[in-house]
Amino acid sequence: MNLQAPQTGDQGATHTADATTAEESFAIQKEQAKFDSKAATEVAMQNTLLTPRFYTTDFDELDAIDVSPVRKDWDKLIAQMEADPNKGHFKKNEDWDHVDWDGMDPALRKEFIDFLISSCTAEFSGCVLYKEMKRRGSNSDITQLFQLMARDEARHAGFINDALREAGVAVNLGFLTQKKKYTYFRPKFIYYATYLSEKIGYARYITIFRHLEEHPEHRFHPIFKWFQEWCNDEFSHGEAFALLMKTDPKLTRGRNVLWIKFFLTAVYATMYVRDHQRPAFHKALGVDPDWYAHEVFTKTSELTKQIFPITLDIEHRKWQPTLVKLQRANVDLDAARKQGGVMGFVKKLSAQARAASAFATLYFIPTQKHQVPDSTRLEPAY
Ligand SMILES: [Fe+2]
Ligand SMILES: [Fe+2]
Repeated sequence: MNLQAPQTGDQGATHTADATTAEESFAIQKEQAKFDSKAATEVAMQNTLLTPRFYTTDFDELDAIDVSPVRKDWDKLIAQMEADPNKGHFKKNEDWDHVDWDGMDPALRKEFIDFLISSCTAEFSGCVLYKEMKRRGSNSDITQLFQLMARDEARHAGFINDALREAGVAVNLGFLTQKKKYTYFRPKFIYYATYLSEKIGYARYITIFRHLEEHPEHRFHPIFKWFQEWCNDEFSHGEAFALLMKTDPKLTRGRNVLWIKFFLTAVYATMYVRDHQRPAFHKALGVDPDWYAHEVFTKTSELTKQIFPITLDIEHRKWQPTLVKLQRANVDLDAARKQGGVMGFVKKLSAQARAASAFATLYFIPTQKHQVPDSTRLEPAY
């Protein structure tokens, strides 16, 4: 696919926070890419079960969506996004405190950089997908929405890259666009996965933001001060996907409910395992990762009731212990890969089997069913 960005003109924005289109943002990023570092880009290039991926889909099917059944809510949401309350917000200002990267505990530094790279890749993954949809589509409702969402994600990714650049690393986003592998998902899987990632993204950002409001002594980096407006963007994106799904009731009925259950389980489990890989980061934030996971799952489940007829039973007696098993299997899997050789191979198979069995146990925990409301629209309330 061709994602070459046009050059910015003299009057164009010079910072991604002020860019009003993803294209403009790409051009700015391209300028900055001269300073981007190879190691960070390599981390962002990784494709494992736990690292953010880039997606592609059947854009014609997406383009054929008719939003008339949800027109009223749709127009309201688009008007909100068009008003662009966060233009200019995602850049360093006087609230940006000095970050002592050299004085930072090395374990924290490593995990935090890893967190930033992975967040930047995830933001950019959304940007690339939305931008491509906007480019390929001809349905003005759909292209308008995707253009607005691509704009936001480009700003988010650009801002994280600003933070990384201070640490002497940054992700070369242009390079990623061209070289990272794209995973094909049919549109309905894009709806489930992207809707969930937007809503869980909101829940993650707002939970950290609220926690740090109460415990500012744990705010070891200024970027957390920006999380409130940030998560409101993600909230709107989630709202848009809820409306898209609402246009076709089949998407949330019958066999598709099993897919919804699969995506909920996969997204929750991935978050749990990935967060537990960063103990120093969570300790510095003063957050117990088990508490954090439970909090984020609770908020996300509450939100997803707007469109999904089921939620996972995260209070089930098997839920938490099985997440722990999955996480341990993942740690062992990592160690076995590093060990290599015959013994490493045997250990790897055993760890994979344990991980698969834990995932299956999570998947087969009975869900909680409920009535979905007529209108999906929600406002950020946490
Ligand atoms: Fe974002
Ligand atoms: Fe988003």
